[in-house]
Amino acid sequence: MARPIPPVTLRGRLIAGLLVLLACACAAVGVVSVLALNRSLLSGLDHQLTTSRGRFASSLEHSQGDTRGQSAGTFGARLVAGVVTQCGVVAPQRDTDDTSSTGPTLTLSAADTAALAALPADGRGRTVRLSWLGDYRLMAVPGLDGDTLVTGLPLVEAEATVHRLEAVEAAVFAVALVLTGVAGALWVGVSLRPLRRVAATARGVTELPLADGEVELPRGVPYTDPRTEVGQVGASFNRMLDHVGDALARRHASEQRLRRFAADASHELRTPLAAIRGHSELARRHPGPVPPEVRHALERVQAESVRMGHLVDDLLLLARLDAGRPLRREEVDLTRLALDAAGDARVAGPEHRWRLELPEEPVTISGDADRLHQVLTNLLDNARTHTPGGTTVMVRVGPPAGGGPWVELSVADDGPGIPEELRGEIFERFVRADLGRSRASGGTGLGLAIVRAVAGAHGGSAEVESRPGRTVFRILLPASHAREALPSGSPT
Ligand SMILES: Nc1ncnc2c1ncn2[C@@H]1O[C@H](COP(=O)(O)OP(=O)(O)OP(=O)(O)O)[C@@H](O)[C@H]1O
Ligand SMILES: [Mg+2]
Repeated sequence: MARPIPPVTLRGRLIAGLLVLLACACAAVGVVSVLALNRSLLSGLDHQLTTSRGRFASSLEHSQGDTRGQSAGTFGARLVAGVVTQCGVVAPQRDTDDTSSTGPTLTLSAADTAALAALPADGRGRTVRLSWLGDYRLMAVPGLDGDTLVTGLPLVEAEATVHRLEAVEAAVFAVALVLTGVAGALWVGVSLRPLRRVAATARGVTELPLADGEVELPRGVPYTDPRTEVGQVGASFNRMLDHVGDALARRHASEQRLRRFAADASHELRTPLAAIRGHSELARRHPGPVPPEVRHALERVQAESVRMGHLVDDLLLLARLDAGRPLRREEVDLTRLALDAAGDARVAGPEHRWRLELPEEPVTISGDADRLHQVLTNLLDNARTHTPGGTTVMVRVGPPAGGGPWVELSVADDGPGIPEELRGEIFERFVRADLGRSRASGGTGLGLAIVRAVAGAHGGSAEVESRPGRTVFRILLPASHAREALPSGSPT
């Protein structure tokens, strides 16, 4: 199973890249400097060996060896026909004696002897590891009497010098890497700050409610220098913001025009509608004999003009609420309102069971009594017309379950519920479950749109929760501090 790769930020990538490059540079400098030092130390030793010309080795033939002028640890060996005949090492100088001497008799292992025999007598230095003495720089030169003289100098000091350089370089490079990491993180952080600001501004835009109304977009970012990458991003972002702002302003203007049109049209329709209603009523009441078909036609004209009148009133109300026309603000007793609306509903729908749950104390808020009455009537009409007879409807006024400075007005029923595909958009205009049935029963699909718009105009909200067997509409309205002592409504 593939494991998800953790996201890497630009900042992290830049710092990691910087550190990897610096580490590579340090490694290259380290390797080159160590190699160069090694080479220079070896060539120094080779030079020393060349100048000694096998003097120590040839002196071993006759005595313990002439150690004068030889540094401690100098190795000498004489080979005749590939066999080591004499060998020795200059012992360290003692304080009491100012001359050096060869150390205890040197025993060479078979491997050492073989390595010495294999040295070509060409006067060039070679590094050889001797069993008891460690690493040596050896040089073989041909002797006077057909022998081979090998002289060697210990590498221990040269190796220690190289190790010291390695240790110093490792410490310096480690500190340089740490300092570069910290300084790089700060520097990259500072350099990326403009990008973070662009991102924050973009995030701010995404959090704005762009769907409707007038939107004030944030001002663009101040980084617009086209010579820098951040400036290019900033300039493009600002241009995009301008375009979005333009489009939103145009959309708002067209919305405004549409609303004005809806308001004007519904307003203009009211007068001719009233005339149609009045005249059809007049004709219907005509005292003379009227043929039954004409009477029926007049009744239909009357009924439809009444229905159209309601529709026009609803459209006008919505248009006014859309335009932000302020509502009346008066003390409204919600308990009284609920009592009245439930009483009307009981008369209109005697087959339903109507229940009321009201608090002991009357609940008053500041709002528009007629519009709030319309909200309750719409909800109760729905509970009556969209559920079968025998359904229980509960009207409740009280504090909401979530608490807070709100009053909750709820209408719940145990009917069949709102069809699932409509639940998300049930508060939209002209949304109805069964178009055919609704039209037959006179519904237009504006009832719940008005409920939400009126609740919103009061600074509140309207929500629905529905499943088969339980549908609850909850209207939250801002609670008013003033409370009037009215006789409390009793549950019916
Ligand atoms: N209590 C309810 N139970 C089941 N369905 C409901 C209920 N309330 C509303 N609905 C559904 O929501 C739809 C929209 O309701 P809304 O009140 O907006 O319009 P309407 O009742 O059809 O028409 P009107 O404009 O006359 O009120 C209804 O057509 C109905 O399908
Ligand atoms: Mg309705």
